[in-house]
Amino acid sequence: MTFSAASPLSGHVTVPGDKSISHRSLMLSALAVGESRVEGLLEGEDVLATAAAMRAMGADIVRDDEGVWHIYGVGVGGLLQPETALDMGNSGTSTRLLMGLLASHDLTATFVGDASLSKRPMARVTEPLARMGASFTSSPGDRLPLTMKGACPAVPLDYRLPVASAQVKSAILLAGLNTPGITRVVEPVPTRDHSERMLRGFGADLNVEVEADGARIITLVGEAELKPQNIVVPGDPSSAAFPMVAALLVPGSQVTIANVGLNATRAGLIDLLREMGGDIAVINAREVGGEPVGDLVVTASALHGVEPDPARAPAMIDEYPVAFIAAALAQGRSVFRGLEELRVKESDRIATMAAGLRAIGVMVEELEDGIIIEGSGGAPLAGGGPIATRLDHRIAMSFAVAGLVSRDGVTIDDMAPVATSFPTFVPLLQTLGAIA
Ligand code: S3P
Repeated sequence: MTFSAASPLSGHVTVPGDKSISHRSLMLSALAVGESRVEGLLEGEDVLATAAAMRAMGADIVRDDEGVWHIYGVGVGGLLQPETALDMGNSGTSTRLLMGLLASHDLTATFVGDASLSKRPMARVTEPLARMGASFTSSPGDRLPLTMKGACPAVPLDYRLPVASAQVKSAILLAGLNTPGITRVVEPVPTRDHSERMLRGFGADLNVEVEADGARIITLVGEAELKPQNIVVPGDPSSAAFPMVAALLVPGSQVTIANVGLNATRAGLIDLLREMGGDIAVINAREVGGEPVGDLVVTASALHGVEPDPARAPAMIDEYPVAFIAAALAQGRSVFRGLEELRVKESDRIATMAAGLRAIGVMVEELEDGIIIEGSGGAPLAGGGPIATRLDHRIAMSFAVAGLVSRDGVTIDDMAPVATSFPTFVPLLQTLGAIA
């Protein structure tokens, strides 16, 4: 598919539900006793993989005609042995969080995934979960396909995260739910805190202490009893990132993106774009289901290059690909460092972005832990392609945005991965007038 130079974008749109919160809604509801209701669930392939897995282990999950999801949970410790392998598709979050959830159940499960997921490292979760008593037979390099045998009772863990990862933190906390005693996770660098907020919301005894140096100590009392909840999922800030950057870059645009989650552990891109000179206003700030939410009014702006502090990385970890597109249109050079985690996402996002940016005429230097980008100062990018998206939804959407500010258009080799997180991406660009 080719994305070409756009006339000014305008309009009022919403983005689908938050992917992180959607996965957790299904998992925690499946562990509560009774019926939970979830509104605004992201109906993307990744979340549907989680729903299928929870069904395969005994939860009853139905979507009604109004789009509300009803989950009838089995109670903590009540998951059943799945009869077939759990197909995780492209979804690292499903895989790592479910491995945690199952680690303290007396069952054996096999996880399989697509070519992208089968390249991603799993040792970051198998290592702490093995200390809790689970055992694993994985493919070379701790990769999928992988079979795990859970431990019941599991042993509570006291763990300091060696990598800033909400997935690893969440896997351990979810394992702790069905483990006697207190599970403790220390995160030196804060990562998204949806698991903590939602576990508390479901009635778990979870406590967070913040140390003087900013480290967070999370303790969870095991053998929890979870109570069913009514959940309203806010719009995903990681999806809003694409129309947000598009509206900043296409001259003359003004776009409202309503109902976007603004949790501080996720809002790093907004801060970065504002530092670059982006005009992003938050209106109707409110709280929905324990999460801060607002409407974003984004007005096209001349941007300048930045050298963002790597400490900000966890709060915008999924937004770097599209931030690199913003940097490619900015005035001057941007230097991004401290981003080695990007090499183990759905693709190696440093290499994939560097190759794609070069292919559309941007001067870049790839670093081991980041990238240096020479901005065009607002001049349209040359364009070209086809861009190799490597089964990575955020690469596809980032280069689609680049096409809107290109001379010759940008061709994407494969838009199918977009369905994992943002099935309405192309229709949303149509609503804004970005594509015919
Ligand atoms: C996620 C955490 C992040 C993020 C992923 C979703 C989550 O991964 O990249 O898309 O829902 O916990 P890491 O925790 O591995 O950085």
